[in-house]
Amino acid sequence: MRHLILAAGLLATTLAAAPQPSPWFTSDGKLNYPQHYREWVFLSSGLDMSYDAAAATGSHSTFDNVFAEPGAYREFVRTGTWPDHTLLVMESREGVQQGSINRQGRFQTLLNGLEVHVKDQDRFAGGWGFFAFDDQAASTMIPAAATCYECHRAHGAVDTTFVQFYPTLLDIAKRRGTLRAP
Ligand code: HEC
Repeated sequence: MRHLILAAGLLATTLAAAPQPSPWFTSDGKLNYPQHYREWVFLSSGLDMSYDAAAATGSHSTFDNVFAEPGAYREFVRTGTWPDHTLLVMESREGVQQGSINRQGRFQTLLNGLEVHVKDQDRFAGGWGFFAFDDQAASTMIPAAATCYECHRAHGAVDTTFVQFYPTLLDIAKRRGTLRAP
């Protein structure tokens, strides 16, 4: 009996300590379309953000909206950084001027696609992988040589993510001391 109890205790400890597999991937390593990201935590929108100072927007605009998976968001609030298995989604939408009663400014319409940033320290050499979706089919990782990785690593304020542009998280990271030097 004593052995049984010990064995059960050992099993429970092993189970508790075992790393949890990421729920986001297919068995062949593709990222599933994040179906419910519109129910996640909204971080911010960018309007016509560009890395190119000369970029002209003209009459065409693009909004991006960034969302964090709620479990990862709560952990960020607690610690000031992202836990393993974080998913961040950035959707891109057309911005237009004419519609309904609108006469000034721009509002969002058609979805152009999603880009996703996933933290998985066992899966990706640098800890994070990028993915893009034009439709809802599972997506393969954007190769590690792509500029996505370079720019996010060089300029992202917290752990390769652009917290400097997510105002509520920026305050939290400042308080927790997790912002990297500019
Ligand atoms: C030259 C710099 C640069 C490059 C290259 C770049 N990004 Fe970003 N990325 C940004 C900035 C700036 C933001 C913040 C956007 C905002 O504030 O709305 C961002 C935000 C994101 C986010 C939201 C989560 C986060 O990490 O902050 C995702 C997802 C993302 N980018 C995906 C990509 C993908 C995929 C690529 C490559 C195809 C890419 N990015 C290339 C600068 C870059």
